[in-house]
Amino acid sequence: LPSDEALLSLPKAELHLHIEGTLEPELAFELADRNGVALPYASVEELAARYEFSDLQSFLDLYYATMAVLRTEDDFAELTRRYLRTAAEQGLRHVELFFDPQAHVSRGVALEAVVDGISGALAEAERDLDISSGIILCFLRDQPVESADAVLSAALTRPERLLGVGLDSAEVGYPPELFAGVFARAKDAGLHTVAHAGEEGPPAYIRQALDLLGVERVDHGIRAAEDPQLLARLAAEGVPLTVCPLSNVRLRTVPDLADHPLLALDAAGVRVTINSDDPAYFGGYVGHNYLAVRDALGVDAATAERFARTSIDGSFASDARKAALQ
Ligand code: HPA
Ligand code: ZN
Repeated sequence: LPSDEALLSLPKAELHLHIEGTLEPELAFELADRNGVALPYASVEELAARYEFSDLQSFLDLYYATMAVLRTEDDFAELTRRYLRTAAEQGLRHVELFFDPQAHVSRGVALEAVVDGISGALAEAERDLDISSGIILCFLRDQPVESADAVLSAALTRPERLLGVGLDSAEVGYPPELFAGVFARAKDAGLHTVAHAGEEGPPAYIRQALDLLGVERVDHGIRAAEDPQLLARLAAEGVPLTVCPLSNVRLRTVPDLADHPLLALDAAGVRVTINSDDPAYFGGYVGHNYLAVRDALGVDAATAERFARTSIDGSFASDARKAALQ
């Protein structure tokens, strides 16, 4: 099996990363102090002790509460800088990161502050760390469709700043079909499209994401493993899945990493990538996810290299950039 060093140094792209999910407890308290925001936890230790989840919703409750400390453009820039520093040490060369504007605009933070802060840090990393990047605006599927429409309209005043749109937050009960119109508008504006589907939700949600949203990748998508016909379709169409192994264990969508369908998906010919989702909350950054699947599933060097190559190939980077990274 590959060494830690071999896995961490593989050139890799991260395609499933919520920037708000990189907020470590230490930075949360720094920003709470700086911004005069009261956190409902007494200390870094007390906050970190809450990182014990029973399902997606129990995580989301903490995730949305803690991100209240993010208020200014500089906060978003600092958050993004810290993520990039850690991920660069783990072989990251390209990132397409998610952000949740509705969760900030609803608290009175300007969309511009969010986008400018994240984009500023990404531009620095492009220059200083040779990490290429783009940002994907995620709609919160458990908020009204009208709210998604409004944030898309605001974002489309400067569409060139976005790589694409995605769909996240509580999944069950909020099927992709609700967002068909919003995604059609985003596509018409030339944006790429992805969606979380088949994390907690059924395989039917993955089909809807493909058929009704026209997504180019599926985020998570692990419940496709229950549906041989869907697996065959994903393989035939070459749709990449952005799998997040440590996230799936922490949110109990799989009982144990040893039971994870990662290798079953791979064996079915599906294009699999390894990602961290919300690394501050789920016990590790992208490299840690590679180490964890080696340890729990026996992922060998050739397979890990293939996953890393797929992450670059399955990205929305230019052909020239992909060639430079392979
Ligand atoms: N699933 C859905 N929504 C999310 C997640 C996730 O893992 N992380 C942040 N928002
Ligand atoms: Zn996610």
